[in-house]
Amino acid sequence: MHTPPPQARRTTRRHVPATTTTELTPTPHRKPKIYVVMYTTWGHTKTLADEIIKGIEAAGGEATLWRVPETLGADVLGKMHANLDAIADVPVITAENLTEADGFLFGLPTRYGTAPTQIKAFWDSTGGLWQVGALVGKYGGLFHTTATQHGGQETTSLTFLAHYVHHGILYVPLGYSCPILNDNTEVLGGSAYGAGTIAGGDGSRQPSAKELQVANWQGKEFAKILAKTV
Ligand SMILES: Cc1cc2nc3c(=O)[nH]c(=O)nc-3n(C[C@H](O)[C@H](O)[C@H](O)COP(=O)(O)O)c2cc1C
Repeated sequence: MHTPPPQARRTTRRHVPATTTTELTPTPHRKPKIYVVMYTTWGHTKTLADEIIKGIEAAGGEATLWRVPETLGADVLGKMHANLDAIADVPVITAENLTEADGFLFGLPTRYGTAPTQIKAFWDSTGGLWQVGALVGKYGGLFHTTATQHGGQETTSLTFLAHYVHHGILYVPLGYSCPILNDNTEVLGGSAYGAGTIAGGDGSRQPSAKELQVANWQGKEFAKILAKTV
């Protein structure tokens, strides 16, 4: 019989949380350490991530870009015309890396209105962290790419949120703090759930100037919120 490795095994949670309220006592004047973690096939989500990182750094945060492990083989990625150049220099994150950060911003290119399998598979590898409450009290935000305006940016956030909830990660929405989110004069990705872009069915549309401004804004706001807590 196949026995799953300990990290993948979901058993009753032990009553030995790694993070306690005492350990979360704020240490003043430390830069919040923020991991921007994404999956991308064609690069749009990476472009948003780069802009979010600029915002985090402008607000005094420390940002690192990561990608989740790929689950597709090279043959399939080749047939999909995946943009491998976009991720060539981006390190692959492990579940354990999440424990190092104060918060994360996950970039989700939509698949049928939900997060892609690659993101789900990564979170399915975090069972060992869940078991000891290693991510309790950390902060999490989200950003998105869809092919079309109504392709499911908000449903992707909503259906992803259970991961943060089960880990005890505090979700930080973007809200409507950024005025661009009220702009109806052009097609725009992004919502109260997080920055976003619209790639087009053939991937030819690139993040617009306004979408990048929203991404930058989200990075800044996220870093400012975390700066109050670390
Ligand atoms: C299997 C599959 C399902 C998809 N489902 C949706 C969808 O439900 N809504 C949508 O707007 N785009 C959908 N897309 C398009 C992708 O979301 C879009 O191409 C991607 O977010 C581009 O981001 P990237 O350049 O970072 O890879 C789908 C793409 C694939 C391959």
